[in-house]
Amino acid sequence: MLQFTIISGLPEYLQSSVSAGHLRIAQERRALEVETVDLRDYTEDSYRTIDDEPYGGGRGMVLKPEPVWRALKTAGLKMPEAGGKLGNRRASGHPWVILPTPKGKSLMQEDLVRLSKKRHIIFLCSRYKGIDERIRAWVHEEISLGDYVIGGGEAAALVMMEGIARLLQDVVGDKESVETDSYTCGLLSAPTYTRPEEFMDWSVPQVLLSGHHAEINRWRRKQALALTLVRRPDMLAKVELNDEDKKLLSEVIIEQAGRS
Ligand code: ADE
Repeated sequence: MLQFTIISGLPEYLQSSVSAGHLRIAQERRALEVETVDLRDYTEDSYRTIDDEPYGGGRGMVLKPEPVWRALKTAGLKMPEAGGKLGNRRASGHPWVILPTPKGKSLMQEDLVRLSKKRHIIFLCSRYKGIDERIRAWVHEEISLGDYVIGGGEAAALVMMEGIARLLQDVVGDKESVETDSYTCGLLSAPTYTRPEEFMDWSVPQVLLSGHHAEINRWRRKQALALTLVRRPDMLAKVELNDEDKKLLSEVIIEQAGRS
């Protein structure tokens, strides 16, 4: 069983989302346990202060180290007491602490796969301008959703948790659906359709109604190759193509050239 602990100054942001969708299913199927921790419960002043002004001046508030340190210790992180060099105060390997931050490494599907094999992940969510730099000593990994800034780490932690939860055994009923995900198989996935067959003069491609599985698979593979060629040629350059793929891709290129 995997455990997520989310340490946040805004736990109400997380409440409904951790009880919905894949996160709910994973918990119901005992593949996952989710605990949200209110950082303010680890303050010692009557205002329950978790942030303060930056030394040296400047705009924005900074997350204080003491409540984070207490919350991490309570969540099970093994840390030497203060003293010694910063390097000596690094947290040991278990649980795994992730700091969502725009300064981190960009999140990829392979990170979700790697993280889905951990036993306990703590997401340390900051809002405000950022964290006191000394908190970084207890963080194993800093992860960014992408090259933009959002209001805080909670939404980023939810993205990661949902991405990980659906990879856990028995959470997504159809294993093949996970294996053919865009980014898992290296190509963007083919378009999908459902009933009705005709919708406002648009009809579903005939091949999908044919019941001919080999033809359907061929059509899907060709569509995936075409879409990836147009939208993400960088992905296409990395994927291993077999002879049939190469044939389909040359058909796509000829058809696209004919259209332009
Ligand atoms: N917090 C603010 N912006 C973020 C981003 N892009 N990724 C992760 N955490 C964040």
